[in-house]
Amino acid sequence: MHRGKLELSCKRKGHLMKAVSRRRFLKQAGNAGLFVAATSAVGRFASAQTQRLTRVTIDSDRQIAEINPHLFGSFLEQLGRAIYEGVYDPNSQFADSDGFRSDVIKEIRDLRVPIIRWPGGNFVSGYHWLDGVGPKKDRPVVLDRAWNSLETNQFGTNEFITWARKVGTEPLFGLNFGTGSAEDAAALVEYCNVDRGTKWSDLRRSHGYEKPHNVKFWCVGNEMDGPWQIGHMEAREYGIKAADAARQMRAVDDTVKLVACGSSGPSMPTYITWDRTVLEQCYESVDGISLHRYWGNSEETGHDSSKYMAMNLAMDRQIDEIISVCDSVRAQTRSSKQLFLSFDEWNVWYRARTGDAVNGHRKGAPHLLEEPYNLEDALLVGGLVNSLMRHSDRVKVACLAQLVNVIAPIMTNKDGILRNTIYYPYSWGLKYGRGRALSIEPEGPSYEVDSLGKSIEDIGLPIPGFGKVPYLDVMATYQPEQKTATLFVLNRDLENEQELELNWHDLTPSRVIGFETITGNDLKALNSFSDPKKVVPQTVASPSVGSKMNVKLPARSYSVLTLSV
Ligand code: AHR
Repeated sequence: MHRGKLELSCKRKGHLMKAVSRRRFLKQAGNAGLFVAATSAVGRFASAQTQRLTRVTIDSDRQIAEINPHLFGSFLEQLGRAIYEGVYDPNSQFADSDGFRSDVIKEIRDLRVPIIRWPGGNFVSGYHWLDGVGPKKDRPVVLDRAWNSLETNQFGTNEFITWARKVGTEPLFGLNFGTGSAEDAAALVEYCNVDRGTKWSDLRRSHGYEKPHNVKFWCVGNEMDGPWQIGHMEAREYGIKAADAARQMRAVDDTVKLVACGSSGPSMPTYITWDRTVLEQCYESVDGISLHRYWGNSEETGHDSSKYMAMNLAMDRQIDEIISVCDSVRAQTRSSKQLFLSFDEWNVWYRARTGDAVNGHRKGAPHLLEEPYNLEDALLVGGLVNSLMRHSDRVKVACLAQLVNVIAPIMTNKDGILRNTIYYPYSWGLKYGRGRALSIEPEGPSYEVDSLGKSIEDIGLPIPGFGKVPYLDVMATYQPEQKTATLFVLNRDLENEQELELNWHDLTPSRVIGFETITGNDLKALNSFSDPKKVVPQTVASPSVGSKMNVKLPARSYSVLTLSV
């Protein structure tokens, strides 16, 4: 159904009351379940109710972007029990003929994770890829200096590719820019992507892999701005090395897509300066730049969950800031090319990040970074899913860090798999974050987040507050071929149900396909192997469908509503 353009544009400009007659407004309010009366006492009640109503108009032509299929990728680092025990465990009752855990393969295959970054992370900056290829019996056991762990090299490049094909995912390879040279990077591209007749491609063939792996996406180093990184260097030095490596890699395979190493996060003292200086050296040589960020409900939020619920706005801001740097270097260098953003590490991570949680004590497969995830973490991850879709015009790749056992939605033990709370909002991003991301402008009540504390990393400057934070964080996608639309709603209100009025401009929903929410009374509740279903999605009663709809969102919730349109 089409509505008048005039009314719509007035709403967009925030002049709703001028455009809509009082009589019609009262009717709309009545439809929304509001009771508006002339007496002042009831009027006050109505106004309190109105403060829980957010209105949004949905117009399928107002498109942010066609969402890139790689927006909800993930990450596996040779760290802790991510690979060994998580993905590769020849002694497991679930091991397949390659020694991979078949239950984990099924879980990830069913999720349809589109792209997976490997092998690191901090690990990659000391990793010699040659240690991980060839006959397994000849591969050395080495000390991984990033996590003080033993690396047996039983899982390397060819195992990852074999596993990725089984899972149905695209590989995103990280390159060693710490101890590794530009030449090593080009050699790995040759090993993976050249068919035959050269030193490295023939080595791959001699290892039993006749066909090239055709790895398209490459991260040119990892967090090289971080003093903790093996081989950490100055921005200019890194930019020059990245440009050199890019030239050499493209000489081997000119179809590769290269992601330069951006700042490890806004708390870095060199944030923005790093990105600018790096791009001044290698803008023309790369295709994208990386962003990383981990959130937590600790010093930054002052352990205040209402502030924590707003932290996805920090992701929105970080993306906007990095876009500004990219585009300003583009203007400065008069480049015709626009870079894409690769948010290739994002998640909640703040409990398991010190002491024994990050020190492998020279053991193989130690329990590292095994972050427990509760309900409020899942709600924030939902908000982060919304933020990524909101920026899908520039963020073309993103990786939830990580996937199995290490800061992960999926945990394993010898008997099976556990879905952490964050599994659910991530799975919704994967399932419904497709097609067109729609540009919407919800208008509704908000609360103040004026200031924030020190970041988790405890370095650099604290990020500023957000000012007014809407209670409802809303995103919408539309899949024209399937004739479906999905609303993703984070209700940040920890006390109250909030209501969303959907005004459909050019589509008319005919049926609710599904309405699920993740919510609960205890923000700190979590799943465990002994109680795996404590925090799981619940089905919500379907709202009445039509060109105007009202949807109730429980307090402390993240919900997805899918409709036939
Ligand atoms: O994902 C865990 C670690 O976080 C990665 O190794 C590193 O890149 C980041 O600091």
